[in-house]
Amino acid sequence: MKNDFVIFAGTANSELAVKVARKLGVELGACTIERFPDGETSVRLDEPVRKREVFIIQPTAPPVNEHLVELLAFADSCRRASAAHITAIIPYFGYARSDKRDRERVPVMASMVADLMQRVGIHHVITVDMHTPQLEGFFRIPVDELAAVNVLADALRDRLPEQTIVVSPDVGRLPMAAEFARRLDTSVVVLEKKRESGTETKVMHLVGDVRERPCLIIDDMISTGGTMGSGIEALLEAGARPEIIVAATHGLMLTGAREKLSHESVREVIVTDTIEATDKDWPQLRVVSVAPLIADAIRELKS
Ligand code: R5P
Repeated sequence: MKNDFVIFAGTANSELAVKVARKLGVELGACTIERFPDGETSVRLDEPVRKREVFIIQPTAPPVNEHLVELLAFADSCRRASAAHITAIIPYFGYARSDKRDRERVPVMASMVADLMQRVGIHHVITVDMHTPQLEGFFRIPVDELAAVNVLADALRDRLPEQTIVVSPDVGRLPMAAEFARRLDTSVVVLEKKRESGTETKVMHLVGDVRERPCLIIDDMISTGGTMGSGIEALLEAGARPEIIVAATHGLMLTGAREKLSHESVREVIVTDTIEATDKDWPQLRVVSVAPLIADAIRELKS
């Protein structure tokens, strides 16, 4: 692997960036990130990037706007300092759920964000389990989506109770659930979900039979925990065994999520480290790392 590249970390998930750099046997690039007294973002690269390949690791995790602007500022600094190629590694892609005009007079934020990223000179985006794969269509640059299913399935394989069935929390997540089931050698059921508000969802139907079965509910993200919370209730009502495991790629874990998931029937909640865990004192929560996945992707691009 050539060494004419540098990895910078924004402030959104420096723990993950350090792990990725360690896997590749390099130090993170030197930079200074500060906030001006009025809240504006200040980014300075403290080493040259001229003609070098640059990777910036920054999930646009909450606070989304802060972290997004930081990423854009990084890319702008790199472009103006004549970096040869800029790859943004965005393990969690915020605003991905705003991918269409679902009401009148609303923006399509994912499209706007994609435009901004290209405008500041990002040449390539690598992300993990984007909310919806068609977001790639908002970009004219390459977008590579890494899948965390393997990392999560490997971590779960030896811990699942016998006869566990995989549950998709909504129809859109069925391909992901099917991939979990294939890797864990089991089958899938699907919940049909209706969103009542930003924090509450309601399960309208369950397609499949969960009677006396332990369940593994999967999703791309746990935000407020509403989807998982209503899913757990629906499964128990349908006769599932009170042995439920919850797995998601992105653990945003906003206020209230822990309460919704701290159900007596939930044995474990497993997420990846695409988002830095803020609640480190939660015995049911297990975090597995996507650092090897990201390091392999960088290695692949450099080879
Ligand atoms: C929705 O389509 C997503 O895939 C997730 O199910 C949802 O965003 C999770 O959010 P919450 O935890 O707030 O229900």
